[in-house]
Amino acid sequence: MARAHASTDIARLETLAEVNSALAGGSSLRAALQRVMQLLDRRDSVVCGSITLLNPDTGLLHVEASEGLASEGRSARYAIGEGVTGRVVESGKPVIVPRASKEPMFLNRARRKNLDRRDISFICVPIQTGKKSVGAISIDLPFEKGRDYPRYVKFLDVVATMIAQAIRVNHLVDAERQRLTEENVHLRGELQERYDFANIVGTSSPMRQVYGQVSQVAGANTTVLVRGESGTGKELIAHAIHYNSPRAKKPFIKVSCAALPDSLIESELFGYERGAFTGAQSRKKGRFELAQGGTLFLDEIGDLNPSTQVKLLRVLQEREFERLGGTEPVKVDVRLIAATNAALEKAIAAGTFREDLHYRLNVFAIFVPPLRERKTDVLLLADHFLERYGVEHGKQVRRISTPAIDILMAYHWPGNVRELENAMERAVLVCDGSVIHAHDLPPSLQTAEASGTVMSQSLGEAVDAYEKDLIEDALKATRGNRVRAASLLRSTERIVSYKVKKYAIDCGRYRT
Ligand SMILES: Nc1ncnc2c1ncn2[C@@H]1O[C@H](COP(=O)(O)OP(=O)(O)OP(=O)(O)O)[C@@H](O)[C@H]1O
Ligand SMILES: [Mg+2]
Repeated sequence: MARAHASTDIARLETLAEVNSALAGGSSLRAALQRVMQLLDRRDSVVCGSITLLNPDTGLLHVEASEGLASEGRSARYAIGEGVTGRVVESGKPVIVPRASKEPMFLNRARRKNLDRRDISFICVPIQTGKKSVGAISIDLPFEKGRDYPRYVKFLDVVATMIAQAIRVNHLVDAERQRLTEENVHLRGELQERYDFANIVGTSSPMRQVYGQVSQVAGANTTVLVRGESGTGKELIAHAIHYNSPRAKKPFIKVSCAALPDSLIESELFGYERGAFTGAQSRKKGRFELAQGGTLFLDEIGDLNPSTQVKLLRVLQEREFERLGGTEPVKVDVRLIAATNAALEKAIAAGTFREDLHYRLNVFAIFVPPLRERKTDVLLLADHFLERYGVEHGKQVRRISTPAIDILMAYHWPGNVRELENAMERAVLVCDGSVIHAHDLPPSLQTAEASGTVMSQSLGEAVDAYEKDLIEDALKATRGNRVRAASLLRSTERIVSYKVKKYAIDCGRYRT
């Protein structure tokens, strides 16, 4: 007898191991539970059995997996407390009925299927996560004298614990998936907002011309070449085209042709098949495939090497390519936007850029003007970055002082908007009040050569200019009230009045 127990125990341990791997196997919860039922059946030839789970939305129990149940049994729903299963879930305690024929309430159960003459044993254990019952395992076994029922219940209990664990993991995964989906929707919205026209700052006439071109071309599938000096906002324009096109909900994929070495760019663009080269252990999709249905942005196209230029030309002509090491052509539906800050004409003349590729890319060209040719945008952009970085660095910077504005306007901005953005971020960081002063701007803007303005001030004049600036700021803040301006400056009204006269400040200007 003891030997028989030992061998059943070993068999059950094996079953538990299999149950465990079924639940951890990565298939859906329902499929995993069905597999568990099959394993239980195989071990103990159950008459019928089911795993019932509580649906938190309806509050009802429904059969999630079963063996040997007729179809009406599979689709049955029970309330908690209803029937044996319902009561097990309610109480959290197992029910064991070794001989159903001896229990009046189980009579019809025993008569099910064609087992009229045989007696069955009925066992039902709850599935609990924490202290909460979330379902039950019900098993009908053929009655056998000498079966060790408490041991069998213990075994089912372990199975139930494993199932509970799987359910918990499943909920976590679902919650995580839900969170990721929500985050994705949110990020898409944010991206869209970021790259809408609304976030491109500038009302100068060259920029209005650019907006016109973007809206003209966005709706079509036309290849666009965006040109302009470094830092002028070419990438922003490429985004705006994508997010204002019918492809807005599909991917926008960027490849920086200058950042990747020649040996990598082709596999990045076109992907490769397993075994295409040493180290290619599995197939990898290229950016062209990742951009399927959307837009591929080739930044700094002028840096593309000649052999990749040939392949790109072919994709543009035939809308298909092969992965590295592959023979099957891959069809793609991708809109191409390219950008360059170099004069491609020169590269063509020098023989480093293919004329036929240029011709294909240059179907529609947008030229983003340098910042020095749209001076009226400088202040708008400066204010825009002031606000953005004020929020980002948690600083309450409200405005830019007049001398600082003069410097911004006089400077020739070789690094264009990017340089202005960096200067403003730095100013926000170093500024210790609510106003950006001239000395908060980077030194490169303040030297005579760089700003293009000759510094003709003496120290005394510079100090006076700074003092005047401080007083004007204080008067602006107090709407021309000298008493309060003086207290802001931790000075006296007498001194402030004297300086107002000295610098010929018009207080009336601030009294609005
Ligand atoms: N009109 C604009 N409004 C607001 N921000 C802008 C504008 N133009 C450029 N920027 C900002 O300036 C920075 C540089 O822009 P972007 O990267 O688009 O320039 P680029 O022309 O692609 O430069 P590069 O040639 O160096 O790659 C970015 O942070 C961008 O958000
Ligand atoms: Mg760029």
